[in-house]
Amino acid sequence: MRIKIKLLAVLLIFNFNLANADEGMWVVSLIGKNYEQMQKLGLKLSADDIYNINQSSLKDAIIQFGRGCTGEIVSDKGLIFTNHHCGFGAIQKHSTIDHNYLKNGFWAKTYNDELANAGLTAKFLIRIEDVSSEILNGLDKSLTEEQRGIKIRELSKQIIAQRVKTKGYSGDVKAFFQGNQFLLFVYEIYSDVRLVGAPPSSIGKFGGDTDNWMWPRHTADFSVFRVYMSPDGKPAEYSKDNVPLKPKHHLPISIKGVKENDFAMILGYPGRTNRYKSSFGIKQDLEINNPAIIKIRTKKLAILKEDMQKSDAIKIKYASKYARTSNYWKYFIGQNKGLRRLHVIDKKQELEKEFNIWVNKDSERKKIYGGLVKNIETSYNKLEYFNLLKVYYREAAIRGSDGIGLSNRFIKLYKILDNDEINKDKLNSEIEKLKKVVSEHFRNLNLETELKLTASLLQMYYDDIDIAYHPTIFDKVRKKYKGDLNKFTADIYKKSIFRDKESLDKFLENPTSKVLGNDQLYVTMNSIYGSYNKFRTINKLAIKNLEKQKRLYVKGITEMKKGNLLYPDANMSMRLTYGKIMDYIPRDAVRYDYFTTLSGVMQKEDPNSDEFIVPAKLKELYTKKDFGRYAENGKLHTCFVSNNDITGGNSGSPVINANGELIGIAFDGNWEAMSGDIAFEHELQRTISVDARYVLFIIDKFANSNHIINELDIVSNIKQVKAKPLHKKEDHGATIGIVPKVSND
Ligand code: ARG
Repeated sequence: MRIKIKLLAVLLIFNFNLANADEGMWVVSLIGKNYEQMQKLGLKLSADDIYNINQSSLKDAIIQFGRGCTGEIVSDKGLIFTNHHCGFGAIQKHSTIDHNYLKNGFWAKTYNDELANAGLTAKFLIRIEDVSSEILNGLDKSLTEEQRGIKIRELSKQIIAQRVKTKGYSGDVKAFFQGNQFLLFVYEIYSDVRLVGAPPSSIGKFGGDTDNWMWPRHTADFSVFRVYMSPDGKPAEYSKDNVPLKPKHHLPISIKGVKENDFAMILGYPGRTNRYKSSFGIKQDLEINNPAIIKIRTKKLAILKEDMQKSDAIKIKYASKYARTSNYWKYFIGQNKGLRRLHVIDKKQELEKEFNIWVNKDSERKKIYGGLVKNIETSYNKLEYFNLLKVYYREAAIRGSDGIGLSNRFIKLYKILDNDEINKDKLNSEIEKLKKVVSEHFRNLNLETELKLTASLLQMYYDDIDIAYHPTIFDKVRKKYKGDLNKFTADIYKKSIFRDKESLDKFLENPTSKVLGNDQLYVTMNSIYGSYNKFRTINKLAIKNLEKQKRLYVKGITEMKKGNLLYPDANMSMRLTYGKIMDYIPRDAVRYDYFTTLSGVMQKEDPNSDEFIVPAKLKELYTKKDFGRYAENGKLHTCFVSNNDITGGNSGSPVINANGELIGIAFDGNWEAMSGDIAFEHELQRTISVDARYVLFIIDKFANSNHIINELDIVSNIKQVKAKPLHKKEDHGATIGIVPKVSND
């Protein structure tokens, strides 16, 4: 076992192949041999400038923003740049009909105007350690998959307790290469993150769903936040006494512009990729799971759209839910198109064939991997219907109906209450947690819309899922309601405590298991949840077998591919991807340039479409060509593409040039390579970013927020910023910049 672990580490760090710069989300502490190639592509920094645990480095300016995005620190006062679509939830929460920041934008004039956001965090990476041997050596071969999972959690806890001792730091052990490698991440998490500025949606979300996932793009998808710390320099919950963070590092911003073939790297927190997925898994997604997701979401979006058009109040309430639902609705449509057009299944089958040949060449390998590919196929076949059920359970029930989703969060409360002796501490802490959830829930809810959603989506569940897999509550729907989910839904909501905030608040004042257990909405949820769990238990063996098979397959592939530079699938840990600014050929006879300009915004303008309105002020600036120092040859560049390898979670990530300066903020992928999370497409796959100059232009010229501009270290051809020594050892918290390259051109 030990030798194999070492082998794997060697694989990770030392084996590489210089052919493909673009593909790969590299663990930021292990870029080792990538470094040579990065230099060849133009990087001027040292590997230590990027990741260093003793001195400040680039990684100190990168945060995980909230739970699903990335942000970067851009001033010595903790200023954050991220995407508009990452700040969207926060912007929405502060929006009312009178102060509609989604529609009109928001710009704080002073620190005092910056808006607090409960629950929003900024997570800084302190260090990464390889703990593979500690975990893997502690796993006995005789363990079942389930026991293995439990043991890994136990060992992880021990490792964190032993290794993460600094007060205020937290640890997270993550599995890589499908559980063949384990890394410990140590973080410092700040929880006072305030909204500083956001453009109106007509700029920050210009192009809307029509342009989403597509190039050429003209969206200034950015928003501005700030991290605060306690007066003594520690992470702290919101307090008016908190002060702006003094970061270890912040990114200077280059307005020199980007050119084709310029080096570009992106650091951030990609969420999930499935680059090692088998042809069988992909086939199932393509033919069964994705179409189901698309079907359910199409219905959901239609209902939301109809109601959102009725009033601005409803529109604000559902803006975030709509955007979230439609983003991945379009994603799956694109993924299916990409999987077909780019023959991804064929490519994976080729790999599986190659794997089988490799396995059969050696009797030792045969012992380990013989029959593995076939077994994976069998597991997928066994799980086919359960996987579809899972989609319906998630999409049509838990995430589809807010009422079902909310009542699902009361299961824990029910368990606490349903005891002869109730644990008062547990109860109170659970009630406090739920109170927050409840107030958030009803702020973003319109009962009429909610009833429609619940009825239509449960109807889909009822109609589409085989009766053998129905929850028992559907018997009642069949007998008493003749399959009419409208009537059923109206009835279960009529007296439910989940119907409005007053009833639920009242319930939480004095909760009993009797009231909850008899609530018809809760009963419905519980029946759906119970039946889903029942089928999960029935299929547990196959689920666990598949996990094990996948782990073995990835292990085999890494052995077979020895000599190639390999990277693990994304898993919400900090990664680096490098490549260059690059155009592409989307289809025969068409070439897409690598940048867009403000003229394109004007060409797309359509006052009759919500998605393509151009605000008067922006038009005026355009007409007067009032671009300040942000223009290039009289044009204002808006977005650009590069061949970096990113995915969801990377949203808001900094695009960094050869000198360590910010040149853009990544916000999307392109339509021609939507299957890219499963197989990277070298010719087609691009990252779409908003040009840093467009961001600064909007802050400066459109929003007149000079105080923000003055906080930034702007690197231009004209004026050089205060040069700061690289790697000067200073007290914790001091800002250390990267020396900007002086240029006379
Ligand atoms: N597709 C982008 C992403 O997932 C989100 C873009 C948000 N814009 C929109 N029109 N929904 O990162």
